[in-house]
Amino acid sequence: MKQQDAPPLRTIRSFVIREGRFTSAQKKAFADLWPKYGIPSEDIETLVPNEWFANSQPLILDVGFGSGDSLVSLAQQRPDLNFIGVEVYRPGIGAVLQKIEQQELDNVRVINADVMQLLRSKFTADLLLGVMLWFPDPWPKTKHHKRRLVQEAFLQELVRVMQSQGILHLASDWHPYVKFMLKHVGKVGNFMLTDSLKNPLQLDRPPTRFEQRGLRIGHKVTDLIYKLQK
Ligand SMILES: C[S@@+](CC[C@H](N)C(=O)[O-])C[C@H]1O[C@@H](n2cnc3c(N)ncnc32)[C@H](O)[C@@H]1O
Repeated sequence: MKQQDAPPLRTIRSFVIREGRFTSAQKKAFADLWPKYGIPSEDIETLVPNEWFANSQPLILDVGFGSGDSLVSLAQQRPDLNFIGVEVYRPGIGAVLQKIEQQELDNVRVINADVMQLLRSKFTADLLLGVMLWFPDPWPKTKHHKRRLVQEAFLQELVRVMQSQGILHLASDWHPYVKFMLKHVGKVGNFMLTDSLKNPLQLDRPPTRFEQRGLRIGHKVTDLIYKLQK
């Protein structure tokens, strides 16, 4: 097949762009701290971690970190690992930059991008030891299920960019999405569900804003922790 005839790769549009409330502190953090902790993915061809971190510690990705409480907690828990957070929501990035600076963390960097694009075009094979995807948008309506991140197009990219024996940690308070996750991760076949409630990388999931909201309205939170075999 000639290059121009190749079918477009399937992607997942898992978000709608919303600028939201950008506080002046978040705006200022973006301007002052982005050069220090941000990775301008649009300007790089391939992510070379050594260019962004002071050392070559194993790398963990936090997908859709929201306001970043989880990302900051992860980086504090394991200073011997490096963390990249990816988020499309810019006020969230402003918020996390402030927290990273306050905590003087040097093992965390942030990317403002769609994770699907990032995995596909910027990440090399076997790059990541772990991927945390906590409380992804549940897209409850049936007509929106195609927007859920946890399905084959995303998972197959993870198989490529994660190391064998790497950890994929999913969490959700929306039971129908948990069932959907089990089904779609099962279809890919490379991820083995562990029976552990503890993340084998000793990364505890802190109570995030979305988890607390779920608990307040009576939802049960489920963690699914998988080990990749390839
Ligand atoms: C429900 S929130 C959860 C935030 C956080 N993980 C927590 O537990 O508080 C989902 C987040 O994922 C982000 N998101 C959705 N699709 C994304 C994508 N394709 N790439 C990067 N971030 C995405 C959204 O902007 C949103 O902030």
